Amino acid sequence: MKTFETERIILRPWQKSDAEALFKYASEAEVGLPCGWRPHKDIEESKFVLEKILMVPETYAIVLKETGEAVGSISLMMGGRYGEEEAEIGYWLGKPHWGKGIMPEAVKILQNYAFCDLGKTVLWCGYFTGNDKSRRVSEKCGFRYHHTEYGVMMKQLGETRDVNKTVIYKNEWEKMQKNS
Ligand SMILES: CC(C)(COP(=O)(O)OP(=O)(O)OC[C@H]1O[C@@H](n2cnc3c(N)ncnc32)[C@H](O)[C@@H]1OP(=O)(O)O)[C@@H](O)C(=O)NCCC(=O)NCCS
Repeated sequence: MKTFETERIILRPWQKSDAEALFKYASEAEVGLPCGWRPHKDIEESKFVLEKILMVPETYAIVLKETGEAVGSISLMMGGRYGEEEAEIGYWLGKPHWGKGIMPEAVKILQNYAFCDLGKTVLWCGYFTGNDKSRRVSEKCGFRYHHTEYGVMMKQLGETRDVNKTVIYKNEWEKMQKNS
């Protein structure tokens, strides 16, 4: 798996030594619930999630260069229900780091990677109705509203939610790059 770098952040694979940082951020309800998962109860749960969910292809820890700490996660979901030329971006960030434009920066890295290196032509993103923070990230990165999937079951939470899907095509992204 690759690593990526900007002035402020590094995207690199998650590793076992990130367990404490993961627990610190993922134990906050305001981080997990908007993504559809329960806050982590203890460090053992974070270790389990690390190995089973995060240490997988195309899921990256967002590391702050200033501290070397993993403060969030971003992934490219592909295969399965996605067509060969499609992928979807999912993400979360530790609460103390919200509002500094870190996630838009990370999303832009993976847009470039997906379109230019992986040959994708369609990128999806999504947010539950009411998650304006995530909607804003998606807008800042050029995604536009596409459709809503109503009543999607959140298995961990035992409830249904409406998921708003946003999309950006490669040609739209290329136009954005020329204009920026
Ligand atoms: C959504 C999320 C990744 C945004 O990351 P970020 O790096 O803070 O993104 P930005 O800095 O661009 O801020 C996005 C919006 O969040 C809101 N926001 C920023 N700081 C905030 C804070 N401290 N408290 C509440 N909302 C805040 C603002 O509306 C901002 O939009 P604006 O720039 O137009 O004002 C982050 O809030 C998060 O991880 N939330 C919980 C998990 C989640 O919702 N994941 C997405 C699931 S679809």
